[in-house]
Amino acid sequence: MTTKAVPGQLVASSDAAEVAEETALRLARALRTAITRGGRATIALSGGNTPRDAYARLARESGVDWTKIDVFWVDERAVAPTDDRSNYRWAKATLLDGTGIAPERVHRMPAEARDLEAAARDYEALIRKRIALDGDGVPAIDIVVLGVGEDGHTASLFPGGTTIDIVDRLVAAVPAQGAREARLTLTAPAIEHARHVFVVAVGASKRPALERVWSSQGDMHETPARLVRGCRGAVTWLIDKAAGGLAG
Ligand code: 6PG
Repeated sequence: MTTKAVPGQLVASSDAAEVAEETALRLARALRTAITRGGRATIALSGGNTPRDAYARLARESGVDWTKIDVFWVDERAVAPTDDRSNYRWAKATLLDGTGIAPERVHRMPAEARDLEAAARDYEALIRKRIALDGDGVPAIDIVVLGVGEDGHTASLFPGGTTIDIVDRLVAAVPAQGAREARLTLTAPAIEHARHVFVVAVGASKRPALERVWSSQGDMHETPARLVRGCRGAVTWLIDKAAGGLAG
């Protein structure tokens, strides 16, 4: 029997603006909690359009000590950091520039590098250096922000690809495919070992993908976002009613 159960806490808002507000408040709270617990916090950001308003709102949130926060990325496209498609560019414009965070605490993924495999290894080394290991010996990022694509991808783990199978690395190079440029991405273990994963999705176009993630049965190669089901820490879904197929 196939059943539907949301793995984690579901926060359903009425529209995109409310999702942005909820996301910002909850990220701020999680950052404060991590700092209280460990003296500092680490956060990995996704790109895409959905989190931009939340990032801008988070930049205005008071009581977040950005001198104690290290910022990483979940994934990055093989473009210059000034390119309109750069995840770094958008996080900088919407969030980081408004926080006064020191440049040495901002760890962008250099996906424009000529040797992407070497860039992936270097970024993994950076994560291992900056983030404490959990009980399984894997660096536990305090907060990971994910989006979900209409095709069921998350991070740069795409349906039909094999990057989702990687279990022995934290960062991987994703080859270009069709019109899609090459990428760097965190792998499933890097995401699964996060202390708190926030998944943000807005709009009816995301509903079929979310249904596939929440279904008790399904294939990670078809719907890589199902990896969230294996997360060791907390998972919070920040969606609007349209994405969740919930009555208005
Ligand atoms: C990226 C992302 C990606 C994103 C989803 C959702 O670089 O593209 O990190 O995984 O979160 O594609 O994107 P939207 O928010 O634009 O729908």
